Amino acid sequence: MSDDESAAGLARRRVLQLLVGGSSLAVAGMIGVPVATYLLPREPSAADIVVSLPDGEIPVWEVRRIAVAGRPVLVLNTGEDHRAFSAVCTHMGCIVKWSKGRRQFLCPCHGARFDADGSVRGGPAPRPLARLEVTATSGRLAVRARGAGAIETGEI
Ligand code: FES
Repeated sequence: MSDDESAAGLARRRVLQLLVGGSSLAVAGMIGVPVATYLLPREPSAADIVVSLPDGEIPVWEVRRIAVAGRPVLVLNTGEDHRAFSAVCTHMGCIVKWSKGRRQFLCPCHGARFDADGSVRGGPAPRPLARLEVTATSGRLAVRARGAGAIETGEI
C-alpha cells in the first residue's frame, strides 16, 4: 500500500467517524429533548402576569383556584397573609389539591405532600411548589409570576 492510499484510507475513516458521531448526536437530540421535556416538572412561564381578586374573598385556610397563563394557581389565605402557588406538582406535573384539614397541598398521582409554604413534606416531589408573588393594594390581591413568555392579565 502506497503512502497516498494509506492517507486516503485514513481520510475516509475520519469522514466516516465524523458522520457516525454526528448522526449519533442527532438521534440523541431527537430522543433526548422530548423525553427531558416530558420528565422535567413544568412551572408557570409568563413574563409578568397579574391576576387580581378582591382581598377578603378567600376564607382563612381555604384556597381559590385561578389560572395564570393557562396554568392552575392556588391562592391560599393563611389568615396572616395570602400565598400563591403553582398547582402543578414538581414530580410529574399532576395538579395538586388543597386539604384544609391537613393544611397541605396533596398530589393525587403519587402522594406528594406540600405544606402551606409550598415545601415538600412527603412523597417523590423533588422541589417545592413554584411560588408566585402576591401583593395587596387598595383592597385587591395581585398575583404575579415572573419569567419568560407571554403576558396575560385577567380580572377574577
Ligand atoms: S405527580 Fe405529584 S407526586 Fe407524582
